[in-house]
Amino acid sequence: QRLAVFASGTGSNFVAIADAIDQGRLDAEIVLLVCDNSEAKVIGKARDRQIPVFVFQAKNYPSKVDYERDILQELNHCQAEWLILAGYMRLVGDTLLDPFEGRIVNIHPSLLPAFPGKDAIGQALSAGVKVTGVTVHFVDEGMDTGTIIDQEVIRIQPEDDQDTLQANIQEIEHRLFPKTIQALIQTEKREEIKS
Ligand code: GRF
Repeated sequence: QRLAVFASGTGSNFVAIADAIDQGRLDAEIVLLVCDNSEAKVIGKARDRQIPVFVFQAKNYPSKVDYERDILQELNHCQAEWLILAGYMRLVGDTLLDPFEGRIVNIHPSLLPAFPGKDAIGQALSAGVKVTGVTVHFVDEGMDTGTIIDQEVIRIQPEDDQDTLQANIQEIEHRLFPKTIQALIQTEKREEIKS
């Protein structure tokens, strides 16, 4: 299966997905990285692996429809089948939602529907909750609102701060995301065989 990964930042989830592919745990190929930030560390990580990169600057386009049209062209060009959002800091619009319905997946560092949006880890710490976690979900037009595919829980320890909790959450993400993508791909294959 041909994955396009969308990311805006560090790219540790991008690396986890690429490693899972290299190690045979994920039966897929990353055919494109889409990035909205030319300074993002994830770009170097894709280039190191000879993965094509499409970088765009939203401010150079009149609207979301315009930049998403360019993204769609790139996705079609490399025949992407799944859009994997791994720290992509933008809402996805109809230009991409319509052609990829049911094939756009995001990872979020909380147990949705708790703490959607930015700084979910800080939000959980401020709220004083004793458990939080990671959610993998389908993407719709809302902010972290699509159907939940899988979740994993982690206890917040009294001594946890932003850094330790983030490290523990990322450890879960790097395991859960490739595993969930693989499960989705396999389910789809089984359904294809049945029909
Ligand atoms: C992850 O924590 C993910 O849950 C959130 O953004 C972060 C991306 O981290 N959506 P990285 O760039 O993959 O290291």
